[in-house]
This record gives sequence, C-alpha cells and structure tokens, in this order.
Amino acid sequence: MSDLRKNIDTDRLPKHIAVIMDGNGRWAKKRGGIRLLGHRSGAKAVREVTEACAELGVNYLTVFAFSSENWKRPSKEVSGLMNLLADSLQEEFSTLKDNGIRLNAIGELDRLPEKVSTKLQNTIQNTSDGKRMCLTLALSYSGQWDIIQAAKAFANDVKQNNKAIEDLDIDMFKSYLSTKHMPDPELIIRTSGELRLSNYLLFQMAYAELYFTETLWPDFKKKELYKAILDYQSRERRFGKTSEQL
Ligand code: IPE
Ligand code: IPE
Ligand code: MG
Repeated sequence: MSDLRKNIDTDRLPKHIAVIMDGNGRWAKKRGGIRLLGHRSGAKAVREVTEACAELGVNYLTVFAFSSENWKRPSKEVSGLMNLLADSLQEEFSTLKDNGIRLNAIGELDRLPEKVSTKLQNTIQNTSDGKRMCLTLALSYSGQWDIIQAAKAFANDVKQNNKAIEDLDIDMFKSYLSTKHMPDPELIIRTSGELRLSNYLLFQMAYAELYFTETLWPDFKKKELYKAILDYQSRERRFGKTSEQL
C-alpha cells in the first residue's frame, strides 16, 4: 500500500466526492495530438479514480463529463466525445457490474444522441443492484439548469396541491434536485489549474471543501486522489461555528 494511502483515515472519508475533470485538451496539445486523444486518456483516468474510490470506501463519486455549455464546442469534438462515451459505456459495463458499482446520470439527458442514451439507460438499469458505490456521470449538466428544473417541479407540485409554499425548506428543495438520492458532495476536486466552478453542482456544494490542482485530468492517478483526500482530512470544517464549538 502506498504511503499516501496508508495515511488516509478511512473513518473520515468524504462520502461523496465530485470532480470537475478538466485539462484533456491541453494534455493532448502538449503531446502534439488532437483534443480527442486527451479525452480518450481522460476516460482511462475516470476508470482509475472510480476504482480508487471504491477500494477506499467512498460511497458516491460524481464526475463532470460534459456540461450544458460544452454543446457549444466544435461539432467534431462534440461527436467525438459522444462516440467515446458510447464506447466507454459498452467497455466498462462488466467492470462496473463485477465491482458492485451502480451507474447513475444527471443532466439534460434528453439532449444526448440516441445511441448514447440507450447505452446509458441500459447500463444504469443493469448495474442498479450495485451496493458498493454509486458513480454518477454529470452529462449535459449545469447547476443552474438543475436549480431551475427543481423550481419548476416544485411549482408544479404546488399547482397540483401536493405541496404548500410555506413548507419549502432546504431539505425539501434538495428532494427536487437531480441529486436527490445522494448526500451533498463534501469534496470537490478540479484539475488543470482553473479556479472556477463552471456551473457544476451549485446548490449542492454550499459547504463542500474545494481542492484545486494543476495536474491535468489524464494525469490524475490514484496518488493524486489520495493527496486530495489527505488535504480534505487536514481541514477544519466549521459550518459557521467557531473552532471551540466543534
Ligand atoms: C475536460 O477537458 C473535458 C470536457 C470538458 C469534456 P477539456 O476538453 O476542457 O480540456 P481543456 O480545458 O481544453 O484543456
Ligand atoms: C467544465 O470544463 C466542464 C467539464 C469538466 C465537463 P470546461 O473546460 O468546459 O470549463 P470552462 O469552459 O473552462 O469553464
Ligand atoms: Mg476545459
């Protein structure tokens, strides 16, 4: 076992880690390759980090794979990413199944091409009994979209007399978000040195610890994950209280 891993306190693991996987394009450019080469290597990093989280005992891993804004990229890159997604779902299905990992997806999934959404729904259904960890792909996802779809669904329930406006509180609102079945992420990791949230889990990250690294996503290996978790474990999470109150 690596020294880094040995130092992790498995009783104080974040239950939910969310990752903004950034830097695939720059990784490819550094090697003189096309951007898609970086996305392919990025897919391998997803595999490695998923495995590492499952081995440690993290319950939820949510990866930002494609944002609502990413539809604005050149159509060749978008179709390359969609093909890669369809192929990866096909290739990884048995590994997920064998390791007790259930797949989940959040986002505007109706915007995905049919071949992706069919493979996605099949994999979600066929891994639904996985108890070890939940791997969520944020696909065609944006935090603002999530908040708006939740507000619409709540308004609709009010209109149907299923809910009363006075009863709306944070927990009830969360039950309308696409992440309703998971706890909020405690640790958000962003690779590639960009210091922004790019419309990720905006409502859910209210009290998440943020970890930024210069490492490009395809280079983010198990060791990098261990470093992020150790950093998380070194922090004092006060939730508005004073140190003395903890
Ligand atoms: C992240 O890498 C993957 C997606 C957003 C799909 P990028 O493609 O954004 O890589 P950079 O940021 O251009 O290096
Ligand atoms: C955020 O990365 C989205 C994903 C990682 C899927 P981007 O590369 O799209 O973000 P910006 O444009 O640099 O903010
Ligand atoms: Mg980027």
